Amino acid sequence: MASYDVIVIGSGPGGYVAAIRCAQLGLKTACVEGRDTLGGTCLNVGCIPSKALLHATHMLHEAEHNFAAMGLKGKSPSVDWKQMQAYKAETIGANTKGIEFLFKKNKIDWIKGWGSIPEPGRVKVGDEVHEAKNIIVASGSEPASLPGVEVDEKIVVTSTGALELGKIPKKMVVIGAGVIGLEMGSVYARLGTEVTVVEYLDAITPGMDAEVQRSFQKILTKQGLKFIMGAAVQKTETNKTKAKVHYKLRKDDSEHVLDADAVLLATGRKPYTDGLGLADLGVEMSERGQIKTDAQWQTTIKGIYAIGDAIAGPMLAHKAEDEGMACAEVLAGKHGHVNYGVIPGVIYTHPEVANVGATEEELKKDGRAYKVGKFSFMGNGRAKANFAADGFVKILADKDSDRILGAHIIGPMAGDLIHEICVAMEFGASAQDLALTCHAHPTYSEAVREAALACGDGAIHA
Ligand code: NAI
Repeated sequence: MASYDVIVIGSGPGGYVAAIRCAQLGLKTACVEGRDTLGGTCLNVGCIPSKALLHATHMLHEAEHNFAAMGLKGKSPSVDWKQMQAYKAETIGANTKGIEFLFKKNKIDWIKGWGSIPEPGRVKVGDEVHEAKNIIVASGSEPASLPGVEVDEKIVVTSTGALELGKIPKKMVVIGAGVIGLEMGSVYARLGTEVTVVEYLDAITPGMDAEVQRSFQKILTKQGLKFIMGAAVQKTETNKTKAKVHYKLRKDDSEHVLDADAVLLATGRKPYTDGLGLADLGVEMSERGQIKTDAQWQTTIKGIYAIGDAIAGPMLAHKAEDEGMACAEVLAGKHGHVNYGVIPGVIYTHPEVANVGATEEELKKDGRAYKVGKFSFMGNGRAKANFAADGFVKILADKDSDRILGAHIIGPMAGDLIHEICVAMEFGASAQDLALTCHAHPTYSEAVREAALACGDGAIHA
């Protein structure tokens, strides 16, 4: 029986980061992973492959729409779907091998197989039982199902199948206007697919700042995505090559049907904890199937910890990574900490959408006195030169103290721009602190500074 200080179950961004940090802090560490490659959903069938397809199709969009205007004339590139898939596979391989290298470098044992916990302090993988002083469960999440919609990963697909459709569909119906639906919907719309998004609510991307939601929907509509809002999908029917999607409009209960060559089910994800044996151990779970933990990520059973998508909070790779690092620090006798108030969210469409902290709606609900500083990318020289002037930066600051409470960006590189605001918030900065910081010209980040200036005496280029 091999004996460890820590065994991490799952090698996604939560698990592999936890394992590396544990090893760096001197703990003898192993990580259990049943997939053929490390990296979990994110590296194998999520964040990384989708970003490869988003990048490739954005390049195509640029060639088709903006090259000629820049004086780059000639035939637009045609799509070699097989090669695009190969590029995606290579991107995945480079990343998953990278984690394998980091495991070797940090002397972390990869125990291959699916793990379960027969009793505290023991992890069973296949016929072998390993001993661990502490166990971290980082088993992630899986797509949630929808009654009446049977996923075959060929015609009716989750995000996993959407990354590797046999061919580019003519018509695609996306169920759910959340992050996955809009990212993958964008990919196929750029490839020429007629994409219709059916959304239960009246606004896309639930929980986001309402002004951003409206602007985002307008921009995506301009890009060719169609939206059917306030519509509940009832069921899908498939034959060998096609599908029908039945939905009901909430406003009048009228029933409608859409034809599609592919249907993407993107109505959320749920914690994946099957086969771990948690119920038999008496580990408490929430009603939503999340593992309950205390503030230091310990479950209701001593020595068993849990992080990432399997516990409460946003299902985001970087939230899992932060918890992985912090949990490892706790196990090494340090003070691990995650500031849940400053976790950015990014949607990698074009333009990108990013947010951190409170939305305007949340501040209103809490009765907070706040001010808004807003700046459109139309006033940003770099964005105009790059055909990327759609969108804006919006900073919300406390009316009296000027402290930044939240920020919402829709525009070029929003997912990168948001981080200077995250750092500012971590340091308790005011909007004026950002506004007084010199920003290089010409950059997109000047739009962030202008929004901060707009919280005070006004933006310059507005
Ligand atoms: P989501 O929770 O973001 O959106 C699901 C949408 O489906 C909601 O708008 C909901 O109202 C709608 N819906 C639910 N039932 C419906 C029905 N019967 N008919 C029509 N619409 C219906 O879920 P999504 O997009 O599947 O993403 C899952 C998780 O993965 C999220 O937590 C997300 O944060 C994470 N993720 C994050 C990414 C990123 O950070 N860029 C990328 C991909 C996923």
